[in-house]
Parts: sequence; C-alpha cells; structure tokens
Amino acid sequence: MEVENYMGGGSDMQHRDALDVVQEFSYELSKMSGKCLDIGSGPGDITKDMLLPMLGENAEIVGADVSQAMVNYARKNYCDSKRLSYMVLNIETSELPADQIGKYDNALSFYCLHWCNDLRRAFENIYKLLRPNGKALTMFIGRHGGFNAYTELQQVPKYRSYLQVITKIIVLIILE
Ligand SMILES: C[S@@+](CC[C@H](N)C(=O)[O-])C[C@H]1O[C@@H](n2cnc3c(N)ncnc32)[C@H](O)[C@@H]1O
Repeated sequence: MEVENYMGGGSDMQHRDALDVVQEFSYELSKMSGKCLDIGSGPGDITKDMLLPMLGENAEIVGADVSQAMVNYARKNYCDSKRLSYMVLNIETSELPADQIGKYDNALSFYCLHWCNDLRRAFENIYKLLRPNGKALTMFIGRHGGFNAYTELQQVPKYRSYLQVITKIIVLIILE
C-alpha cells in the first residue's frame, strides 16, 4: 500500500530531477558497463525505464532498497529484463554482506541518501561495494527551502516532538 501511494503521483519531482541528471550525465552513463548498483531503487520504475536504457549494452543493474515492500513491488512490476534484479540492502549498515563487497563496477543513487542518518557510513559502504576504479553517480537533497518550514514548526511546542528526527536529518545534511 505504501508503495502504491508513492507511485500514485508522489514521485513527479523524483522523475523530473532524475531525468535532469540522467541527461546531464548521459555520456558517462553510456560508458558504464558491467555490474551496476542502484541504491534506493524504490519501486523500480526509474531503475528499469530511465537508468537501464542509458547504460552500455553489457551493463546489468541490481536495484537495492532497505524496504522489502519496495523490493517486492519492483520485482513484480519492473523486472522483465535479464539485465535487472533487485535485493534488500541497507546502505547504512555496519556490516555489508560479504558477498557484495567489491562486486560492482558502478553505483547509482537517486533521491535516497538524504534518508541516511550516517551519510559518512553510506558513502564508505558505496566505496566498499565498488571494484577498484569503480564509479558512482549520486543525487540527493543537500538543502531545500522546504526545510525552513520544519525548523519554524519545531518552535511550536505541539509539533516539536514530531520534528525531532527531521531536524536531525537537516542538521546532518547541512553539516556533512
Ligand atoms: C524517494 S525513494 C527514491 C526511489 C528512486 N530511486 C527514485 O528516484 O524514484 C527513496 C528510496 O530509498 C530507500 N532507502 C531509504 N533509506 C535507505 C537505505 N538506508 N538503504 C537503502 N535504501 C534506502 C527507500 O526505501 C526508498 O525506496
């Protein structure tokens, strides 16, 4: 259900911004071959319809998401290619699965990494997942005007308890 809600119109901004990045880096993407990890692949639509067609013919993508529900949805709805598969993976984990380390030629990530509390560990993990000379292209929110609304709302006592986590995320993103 949560995935259906995401797909029901809440993802327009993600699509527009992913398209911007994909167009800007179309040459680099076309040169990507081998195994490619899409971190935070979500429902899988961008992975299959936008990223896979941009990569070199020999490239395959593994979509990775912390949410089993997202992975199930993507496997059911966006997985009809032999070059595409999905798995559950938390990019912030303190223990990466040993069989994934050093297995990827490229890593991509769109609109995911701002959800990480420990961005440093997320990038350390991306580094570990890549082979030597592997490449990564990531897009995530570093700063957004909408954050101001959260910090102002946090001054209102009745909303304060709801906004502890979001404020932590904003501070982390700005400090990183
Ligand atoms: C906004 S969606 C983006 C989906 C897709 N990449 C796109 O651009 O439309 C963010 C996704 O990141 C996933 N995510 C959040 N934290 C994660 C983590 N620590 N490791 C892996 N995936 C994560 C969420 O489950 C969600 O599916």
